[in-house]
Amino acid sequence: MIPFLDLRLATEELRPEMDEAVARVMRSGVYILGPEVETFEREFAEYCGARHCVGVANGLDALTLLLRGLAIGAGDEVIVPAHTYIATWLAVSATGARVVPVEPSPETCNLDAQRVEEAIGAHTRAIVAVHLYGQTAAMEELGEIAQRRGVVLVADAAQAHGVDLGGYSAAFSFYPTKNLGALGDGGAVVTDDAALAERIRVLGNCGSGEKYSNEVRGVNSRLDSLQAAVLRVKLRHLDEWNHRRREIARCYLDQLAGIPGLTLPNIADGCDSVWHVFAMRYPRRDWLARQLAREEIGTLVHPVPPHLSGAYRDAGLGRGSFPIAEQIAEQELSLPLHPHLTWEQVEEIVGSVCLAACLPLRARA
Ligand SMILES: Cc1ncc(COP(=O)(O)O)c(C=O)c1O
Repeated sequence: MIPFLDLRLATEELRPEMDEAVARVMRSGVYILGPEVETFEREFAEYCGARHCVGVANGLDALTLLLRGLAIGAGDEVIVPAHTYIATWLAVSATGARVVPVEPSPETCNLDAQRVEEAIGAHTRAIVAVHLYGQTAAMEELGEIAQRRGVVLVADAAQAHGVDLGGYSAAFSFYPTKNLGALGDGGAVVTDDAALAERIRVLGNCGSGEKYSNEVRGVNSRLDSLQAAVLRVKLRHLDEWNHRRREIARCYLDQLAGIPGLTLPNIADGCDSVWHVFAMRYPRRDWLARQLAREEIGTLVHPVPPHLSGAYRDAGLGRGSFPIAEQIAEQELSLPLHPHLTWEQVEEIVGSVCLAACLPLRARA
């Protein structure tokens, strides 16, 4: 049995360090924010090559507070990928702004810069580029467009801990399945802009910069000390884990190349990936998933693009509004890819995919 992911493996590998970190927080008597969170913020900012980091309660809040910190709200429009996890859209909606979805490039599944340029209008305030599946969006091209058109570019880096952020402010999630995952919820914003970082800090602490002085209507979105302590332990292993992810992805790309009908992930020139997931495409996706399940290999499917979800029914974006995003959602299948996958398991997965994908050919012959 090869599950898609088993979160216990990372915890077990680091058990002594994690136990010590948790015990340290218990002894400290400080359970929300405090020195552990401040130290994590410093370490994560440095890791990302950014000047500031603000820990918050989760990735959705990180993105919402980043946008609110930029004073984005009702009457504004924000460009988002049509193909992303729904939280990217929810963050924009939570500010009161309107989402303007843009189709992805069919090659990279990330934002298509030319389409972004076409979608910019009089009310556009920002572009949220998502580093989906761990692959950086085309930040250079998007940055040039954003600067020329006078809009802000930020990144949803929830799936991309460890990529070069290119100097752009970014929102992270530390949901347990992420490349850097907590033992619960967590999130952060990293930025070079000190004033923006301070606004986010205040907004996430009930609008309070000073105790009992509430100047803005904030929310409660703080990072727990326990999660910060756990994240500090895991951060020390992130590069090594991302390296292992890259090796496994390289192996899948080499070994699965040339299978008829199978479209493998494509990392564009000038982009990088930390391989949060290995999302490939196959026209008979559900059938392939069933074949692999028969071999006891777990896979993952993200079947519904945000515009077809009930949450955005009132936006009037029915089926056919974003055909590229819809086709990706119909065909995408992610294979297991995590740092604790063994080479034997990788070999077994490759063998099973090759065999399954060749079955229809054999049946025809
Ligand atoms: C692209 C993307 N954005 C935002 C989020 C939201 O993160 P969280 O679940 O921590 O709120 C996620 C998490 O799944 C994500 O994958």
